[in-house]
Amino acid sequence: MTAHVELPGAGHPTGPEAARGGEHVAPNYHPIPVVIAKAEGAWVTDVDGRRYLDCLAGYSALNFGHRHPVLVEATRRQLDRVTLTSRAFLHDQLEAFCADLARLCGMDMVLPMNTGAEAVESGIKVSRKWGYDVKGVPAERASIVVAADSFHGRTTTIVGFSTDPVARTGFGPFTPGFRVVPFGDAAAIEAAVDETTVAVLIEPIQGEAGVIVPPTGYLAAVREICDRHGILFVADEIQSGLGRTGRTFACEREGVVPDVYLLGKALGGGIVPVSAVVSRAEVLGVLTAGTHGSTFGGNPLACAVGRAVVGLLETGEYQARARELGEVMHARLRAMVGHGVVAVRGAGLWAGVDVDPGLGTGRAVCERLAARGVLAKDTHGSTIRLAPPLVIGEPDLEHAMDALAASLRDLGAA
Ligand SMILES: Cc1ncc(COP(=O)(O)O)c(C=O)c1O
Repeated sequence: MTAHVELPGAGHPTGPEAARGGEHVAPNYHPIPVVIAKAEGAWVTDVDGRRYLDCLAGYSALNFGHRHPVLVEATRRQLDRVTLTSRAFLHDQLEAFCADLARLCGMDMVLPMNTGAEAVESGIKVSRKWGYDVKGVPAERASIVVAADSFHGRTTTIVGFSTDPVARTGFGPFTPGFRVVPFGDAAAIEAAVDETTVAVLIEPIQGEAGVIVPPTGYLAAVREICDRHGILFVADEIQSGLGRTGRTFACEREGVVPDVYLLGKALGGGIVPVSAVVSRAEVLGVLTAGTHGSTFGGNPLACAVGRAVVGLLETGEYQARARELGEVMHARLRAMVGHGVVAVRGAGLWAGVDVDPGLGTGRAVCERLAARGVLAKDTHGSTIRLAPPLVIGEPDLEHAMDALAASLRDLGAA
């Protein structure tokens, strides 16, 4: 049977609902109104054939760019073999993927899941169970220390400890057992830890908050506090990890190894959702058959793509690109301070750029940027997040920086 194929753009909405994608699309996003029809590398093409440089890269889910040939080939090969088995049976990609990812992380064991939020939820469950079974925390009393302004996903448990009113208002009642302390303040973590504490859960660099880099020494201090109190350091590297900061993991910037890595986004190569909790056998080994699971977690297609992603990261090429091109990007951004930009933060090929509120919102700058053929996204009013794919070429990166400077000038920057 031949499927009916719509021409690119046919049927794409034009009415007032177009801003969110159409009247049948739930209104939980406010996208930049660009309707993408195809993509390759760092570039996307809209339904009218206009090309845009993608400087958001799916919030780091597209670290290897769109449709990286090695990842597409690994996907194709697996599509021709087997795609889904459920975990009721074994398949020949599962142990291979878990072994490859554990090796990349210097850990023993992998719990494969699908989305980032699921990895975080799973990390919370594992930490609690480890606290009861191994540390001996009294039943139902486990607490986890988390940071203000964090972003770990959208489940009710996770938004319950979010400090962002937009993320949490209207969704209670929430799961107890979390203590929120200011990000970057190790003394506040120390003060929040007691005999019920099982873990500290933080992003090594806060992405959604605006690419907030903690003070030097913070991650090492968190490691030391966790060691001294015998609790787990759980690092959410879902956005910061897998090459983005110029290292495989952002924790490496301080030479720190957490007890648990939470991974997602780029682990799926921009092709399928793949996430994982990665840790030592002593931690993940608290799970027994039936205590946790996922129909799709660790499916053959996801594992095949994930193995190819690990293969790319093991070359070190992408981490090196993020370091080298990150220097180029940050030098250009620093030069914009005083010319429409008030502050720039970040690491590697990742930046939070605070726009002078006198010029307009981050959204206004992103809309100007899109008009100039570059895609980025605002966060928290006046910040723009830049996270180009690590495969971006230097001339394209320079082009994006030129477009940003020009967009700021469009809005009146000196
Ligand atoms: C640090 C961090 N953790 C978790 C998540 C949630 O991932 P997902 O949207 O795949 O559920 C995100 C998403 O932006 C993230 O940045």
